[in-house]
Amino acid sequence: MQDLQNKVVVVIGGTSGIGLAVVQAASEMGATVYAAGRSSENIEKAKLQCADQVNFRLADTHDDASLLALFAEAGEIDYLVSAATGAERTIAPFTEQTEEQFAAAFQKFWGYTKVVRNGESFVKATGSITLVTGTPARKYKPGMSSLSCTGGAVEAFIKALSVEIAPKRINGVSPGLINTAMWDVMGEEKQQKLADMTAHIPMARAGQAAEVAHGVIFAMTNTYTTGTIVDVEGGTLLT
Ligand SMILES: NC(=O)c1ccc[n+]([C@@H]2O[C@H](COP(=O)([O-])OP(=O)(O)OC[C@H]3O[C@@H](n4cnc5c(N)ncnc54)[C@H](OP(=O)(O)O)[C@@H]3O)[C@@H](O)[C@H]2O)c1
Repeated sequence: MQDLQNKVVVVIGGTSGIGLAVVQAASEMGATVYAAGRSSENIEKAKLQCADQVNFRLADTHDDASLLALFAEAGEIDYLVSAATGAERTIAPFTEQTEEQFAAAFQKFWGYTKVVRNGESFVKATGSITLVTGTPARKYKPGMSSLSCTGGAVEAFIKALSVEIAPKRINGVSPGLINTAMWDVMGEEKQQKLADMTAHIPMARAGQAAEVAHGVIFAMTNTYTTGTIVDVEGGTLLT
């Protein structure tokens, strides 16, 4: 197991799903971990799944002051991660969406730019930033244009920033369909629907948050990886 003793890790969107799995992994590896989200309810649930020493804080990717307060408290950050969803998305053909619906998906992108704008100066020269994106950036399906365009913007942002902030590193991790609370809107049929949606991919199942966290730990700690998107998607991009 990798040793993250004496490392400071900050995870925005660290109270559920992929971000929470990163918090758990980094904490088990000995890091000092700050985990943030918008709701106290999610924080209370996450606390039950983490070691006592994880520092949970309220922060919103759309609120500069809350991000700045979090980063200032964390101090010198080794690894800054954002896995926040941060947007309402509309799944529908482009021409059937209003401009407002389409634009709303980009709130994830704008949230990530706020995380980087407020957080970059706190990241050590030897450290890194990792942003969680998703397969729609490079896998195009009808009805998913707002997600694809947002994901494309996030990936371009990562690459553009990598040449500006070096020697600090910035990478993306791109999950396929992952079994998290993001899909709870499916209700009681969630497990069956996730199985149906992934039956055709090489791994023939939805991924687990811990599998994506494994990719995040690689992206954030590998000292020769920057401007890269690590795909953790069970072969989705091949189908
Ligand atoms: N699950 C998938 O199939 C999948 C696939 C591709 C990409 N992704 C991406 O992976 C990332 C993590 O998704 P997930 O599946 O782990 O979702 P999740 O289980 O719903 O967790 C989302 C986390 O983000 C936090 N959050 C949401 N909006 C926020 C904001 N504006 N500011 C701060 N925190 C915020 C949530 O807490 P609060 O609500 O309390 O703020 C929660 O901690 C997202 O960027 C998602 O788009 C997921």
